[in-house]
Amino acid sequence: MSPDLTTGPGRAGPAGGTVFDRIVRPALFRLGGGDAETAHEWTLRRLATLSRRPAALAVLGARYAVAAPRTVFGVDFPNPVGLAAGMDKDGAALPAWPALGFGFVEVGTVTAHAQPGNPRPRLFRLPDSAAVINRMGFNNAGAAALAARLAALERPLGVPLGISLGKSKVTELDDAVQDYLASYRMLHPYGDYFAVNVSSPNTPGLRALQDRGHLDALLAALVGEKPILVKIAPDLTEAAIAEVLEVCLSRGAAGVIATNTTLGRDGLAPADRSRAGEAGGLSGRPLTERTRRVVSFVHAETGGALPVIGVGGILDPSDATALLDAGASLVQLYTGFVYGGPGLVRAVARATRR
Ligand SMILES: Cc1cc2nc3c(=O)[nH]c(=O)nc-3n(C[C@H](O)[C@H](O)[C@H](O)COP(=O)(O)O)c2cc1C
Repeated sequence: MSPDLTTGPGRAGPAGGTVFDRIVRPALFRLGGGDAETAHEWTLRRLATLSRRPAALAVLGARYAVAAPRTVFGVDFPNPVGLAAGMDKDGAALPAWPALGFGFVEVGTVTAHAQPGNPRPRLFRLPDSAAVINRMGFNNAGAAALAARLAALERPLGVPLGISLGKSKVTELDDAVQDYLASYRMLHPYGDYFAVNVSSPNTPGLRALQDRGHLDALLAALVGEKPILVKIAPDLTEAAIAEVLEVCLSRGAAGVIATNTTLGRDGLAPADRSRAGEAGGLSGRPLTERTRRVVSFVHAETGGALPVIGVGGILDPSDATALLDAGASLVQLYTGFVYGGPGLVRAVARATRR
């Protein structure tokens, strides 16, 4: 499918598109000579400033917030559309996200040790494919800095907060449990749920933590006080997913987040194929169908016993309703927000009010 970026990917808009489509996105995409991370940093800085202005947040909230409440793994969500991990890794602009329509926010991935991530450039837009490739490598200020920021929040967020935990690059795979546990100990008072990220393709060896033995040890250490969810890769075989699910069920995980970015390069538009060789994880439209199939498999395999957050390739409201129909209880988006802005979040949240 070839998205029409004059009206938003896969979305029919009024003639000429929305203000976001006509003005905001083109301006953001020109920043830094087209460098995607420059646009990302600029946007986060603006949203962080906005986060300190309650009156401006109230105006935005009146425009974008949608009520479609539900309770999943014991947590109340005002609507089921969340911000996916990686957009606001350090929680720099937390109050802005609910005002832009998100019904929950997942910060991180954070690691026990602060780390710079991979050298730039490491983030690439593939606009003809409504996709992104990233190899950020868990750049983040560390769990202690996030804990300090969350402790200093002046007002309650008003929506559930998920915190995504990853392994520090300097930590050996065999010491991963202690590393996740160190982050969890610093952050557990602040999260409504925790996501165990064992599926980023950008930390060498991390995805091996999806293996039965590693995952079992990790969940044994973390499951207890707060809901713990496991985020899986879209590139796992069904047999490997089934193994992850067995461990999740036996260890009392609260759910599964499906999926992270893919190492595959299927589904790229011809104009973007020159980017296919960039190392990293691919997100957005090329992931839509794969994510739906993984969500459906998880739901069928567990008989619905394990709540699923569906994430990957939501570029349009029908992508989200397809994930809910496949068995997801909640959804998240990242790349869709890059291409569709807050109008897409609102449209998706409204579509879930069926
Ligand atoms: C630039 C970028 C950074 C990301 N960083 C993280 C991360 O730190 N932790 C994580 O679990 N997922 C991360 N993701 C994956 C997203 O949370 C999401 O699972 C994936 O992009 C698929 O959703 P989408 O198609 O809506 O983008 C990142 C994605 C992108 C594009």
